[in-house]
Amino acid sequence: MKKVELKRAGLTVSNICLGTMMYGTQVSEAEAFRQLDLYREMGGNFLDTSNNYAHWWPGASGDESETLLGKYLADRGCRDQLVIATKVGFDRHGEGAGLTAKQIEYWCDESLRKLGTDYIDLYYAHTDDKNTPLEETMEAFDRLVKQGKVRAIGASNFYTWRMCEAKHIAQQNGYADYTVNQPCYTYLFPKGGYKLAYEFNVNAVEERLRYLAANDIPLVAYSCLAKGGYDDPARLPDFYETGSRLDTLLECAKELGLTPSKLVIAWLLAQDRLPNRPTVIPLFSSSRSDHLKEILEMSDYVLDQEILEKLSDAY
Ligand SMILES: NC(=O)c1ccc[n+]([C@@H]2O[C@H](COP(=O)([O-])OP(=O)(O)OC[C@H]3O[C@@H](n4cnc5c(N)ncnc54)[C@H](OP(=O)(O)O)[C@@H]3O)[C@@H](O)[C@H]2O)c1
Repeated sequence: MKKVELKRAGLTVSNICLGTMMYGTQVSEAEAFRQLDLYREMGGNFLDTSNNYAHWWPGASGDESETLLGKYLADRGCRDQLVIATKVGFDRHGEGAGLTAKQIEYWCDESLRKLGTDYIDLYYAHTDDKNTPLEETMEAFDRLVKQGKVRAIGASNFYTWRMCEAKHIAQQNGYADYTVNQPCYTYLFPKGGYKLAYEFNVNAVEERLRYLAANDIPLVAYSCLAKGGYDDPARLPDFYETGSRLDTLLECAKELGLTPSKLVIAWLLAQDRLPNRPTVIPLFSSSRSDHLKEILEMSDYVLDQEILEKLSDAY
């Protein structure tokens, strides 16, 4: 698989990130281990988890994904071959959401314990916390970097203006800054005026894409397969506009002999060949090893420029 340098984070990662949100809950340990082995065999090294995955699953605590990864790392002895991203900031069973210094310190130690490691490669603020001063949050993250518990920090589900504010505070105080952004991003546009299901930013829109490109901040695109909705329309969340943009995707996929999901991955990987677009790293998940393999095979695919532009211009 191709590698991408996250220059400001000082990390080199495979250009497709593997999501482990449902490991240990919907996805069994045996299947998760199979997927992790396959991902590594194919050259993948970039894993995404969180301190609360997947607490909404019936009977789950929210520790399942990190705990399973910890078990895998110990079993295979491969910690140093992987770049592990985890997150802090969302609620788990009413334990309290937020990015206070106390919460960041506590959950970082908990993630280290569950993962069985002494450092996190990339530590994301999972969502914004408007009740805690950004100064407190950025100072707490910076302390973790200085202590060597965290190599780099990132922001997920942040509004662009809050990322700018955080950057300003980091620059003024010499703190570590958010080097990667992880919003929801896929080929289809969200419906105009769609009321968000959560208070966080559901999709990366034009203004954010331009900001990230101008500041050389890579975009790690979560839910980039629209929850499996490109190949199974019944799974497509209803907040996406479909119409002629989806028709264009389906036509081009047929012409190229790719599944729509695979073409979406190719389109995302080609974003930095367009003006005002950042480097995009698709972050996807699957419950099936065969699906996983066919997405990872797209890592080296070079999308034809004319098709890239046709897909991008469709609306
Ligand atoms: N930062 C955040 O707030 C946030 C939010 C959500 C997710 N995430 C991260 O992003 C990762 C992925 O997100 P996600 O699960 O929401 O979305 P996703 O990757 O867009 O969708 C997952 C769905 O895609 C389907 N799929 C995978 N490969 C396929 C293929 N080759 N052909 C057809 N369908 C395929 C899967 O179905 P099958 O199981 O049938 O293959 C699965 O149901 C998570 O694991 C998590 O790490 C982050």
